[in-house]
Amino acid sequence: MKIQKRWSCSVFFLFHMTHVAWTQIFQVVGPSSAVLVFVGEDVTLPASLSPVISAQRFEVRWFRDDFFSPVLLYQNLQIRPEHQMQAYEGRTALFTEELLKGNVSLRLQDVRVSDGGLYKCFVDSGPWNEEVHITLNVEVLGNQPSISFGSTEDQQTTLVCKADKWGTTPDLTWRDMNGVDLTSESSVTEERDNEGFLRVSSFIPSSRSSTCSPVS
Ligand SMILES: *[C@@H]1O[C@H](CO)[C@@H](O)[C@H](O)[C@H]1NC(C)=O
Repeated sequence: MKIQKRWSCSVFFLFHMTHVAWTQIFQVVGPSSAVLVFVGEDVTLPASLSPVISAQRFEVRWFRDDFFSPVLLYQNLQIRPEHQMQAYEGRTALFTEELLKGNVSLRLQDVRVSDGGLYKCFVDSGPWNEEVHITLNVEVLGNQPSISFGSTEDQQTTLVCKADKWGTTPDLTWRDMNGVDLTSESSVTEERDNEGFLRVSSFIPSSRSSTCSPVS
């Protein structure tokens, strides 16, 4: 009897190992480079299981810094909004039909500047789990610049070119009516507004009429 017991035990063990090896081990595959999106647009962070197996019965957890307050959590066959980061409320989805094909991509709507950064997609089948890291870069195209008169501390009249709502510092060029580049005569200040956008002001002596054009 003893022998039989041991035999069935190792058969179970073998079966268990084969089961894990052949049906449960997977990788989560993401894009090879960062995902780029403009502020206000929708974006998909692509992730899928390799080999292609259904993720329908798995846990899919998209999170940033805190594992326990996810951007999106799918567990027990449904999306669980209870612990979702507030900033993502109503803006995230999975492609639920696609879960059968191992597609665990995250849909993110109405992207904000603060959405930029690292995302982790953690997939857990029970006996096995894996995660992939994806960077989202949020690009901001600033407003058209405006030119006005201003004065410096020593009461000199200047032209001021103001450009706001930029995500990164734009290259700003001043030209006179003949197209001559006057940028070297200008000075630039920049500050962040309360939404995190950059506001750039460039000053140039007003003795010559000029145009300015910021580009990202
Ligand atoms: C997942 O499904 C979505 C929606 O059909 C599709 O846009 C996306 O390309 C798929 N991603 C992968 C990695 O298969």
